[in-house]
Amino acid sequence: MRVLITGITGFVGSHLAEYALARGDVEVFGTVRWRSRMDNINGILGDIDLIDCDLRDPSATRKCLEQVRPDYIFHLAAQSYVPASWSAPSETLTTNILAELNLLEAIRDLGLETRIQVAGSSEEYGLVLEDEVPIGEDNPLRPLSPYAVSKVAQDFLAWQYNQSYGIFAVRTRAFNHTGPRRGQVFVTSDFSRQIAMIEKGLKEPVIEVGNLEARRDFSDARDVVRAYWLSLEKGEPGDVYNIGSGSAVTIQEMLDMLLSMTDDRIEVMPVPERMRPSDVLILLSDNTKFHAQTGWKTEIPLEKTLQDLLDYWRDRVDRGKL
Ligand code: GDD
Repeated sequence: MRVLITGITGFVGSHLAEYALARGDVEVFGTVRWRSRMDNINGILGDIDLIDCDLRDPSATRKCLEQVRPDYIFHLAAQSYVPASWSAPSETLTTNILAELNLLEAIRDLGLETRIQVAGSSEEYGLVLEDEVPIGEDNPLRPLSPYAVSKVAQDFLAWQYNQSYGIFAVRTRAFNHTGPRRGQVFVTSDFSRQIAMIEKGLKEPVIEVGNLEARRDFSDARDVVRAYWLSLEKGEPGDVYNIGSGSAVTIQEMLDMLLSMTDDRIEVMPVPERMRPSDVLILLSDNTKFHAQTGWKTEIPLEKTLQDLLDYWRDRVDRGKL
């Protein structure tokens, strides 16, 4: 079968490409832009086909789908960093919404039978009340950032194209996920990178942090890509599924786990610039629906994910890849 991954050079996209290749019977295609960084997919470049396509361009997107005619599309490409959506809201909204719109229009126009997974986010839930956790799919969406609004729009676009045109679109709302290759701006990677630099003597032994009180439901990206696959294999068209571990830790607890993995004594310093105009206090998934539909649950414990991530940064720091 033929699979197209948008955002294949990214953190999750690269893990999904590896997972699809390991299945043995899958031809993997991915969209790239001329300035995409290839670091994450260097190891599989010989096994995949890359297509130059800026998804914000409708004709380029249509040509790409006409060429590939995929059975499955995993739509992961997006501006995915919440703080960047405050500094550049228009870019986040246009990129995230238009890319998906162009894909859906191309599927419709070409009359493709393809199944498409749309990567939404737990950020869509945003302001969650105390009696609303764990969060089910029916919870009200109260997005707290332009990024979250863009994901709500993506989510509803997929639903609308399913209802209006019968397109096999499945909406996933992934809670936080991490692991090796996680972009350095995200909290688990940021802290791991700082620790690796401190260990190497490249930074004074002070780790800079933002809001440590937020609670997040972290999964390993290698578990999440299995879920994305299952969402298209076993999910109902038009339906929406939470993807999460079902347990949450505070950012402080996550930091303590990372600090327990180093012999260095490190001071923790809150930095005002790392605080957000509004932060989502708690994201904890009720994953019952997806588990019942597909049998999926997370397999990799958070300790292992964080250990692998810290080792990934140690290796990068050793190689001067900061
Ligand atoms: N990035 C960062 N840096 N976050 C910090 C820091 C810091 O120094 N200190 C505390 N935090 C807190 C943030 O305020 C937030 O509450 C939490 O750590 C997680 O931040 P991120 O790792 O940046 O992720 P996110 O929760 O905003 O969004 C991620 O998860 C979403 C799914 O819930 C991203 O991957 C999104 O793309 C994804 O949709």
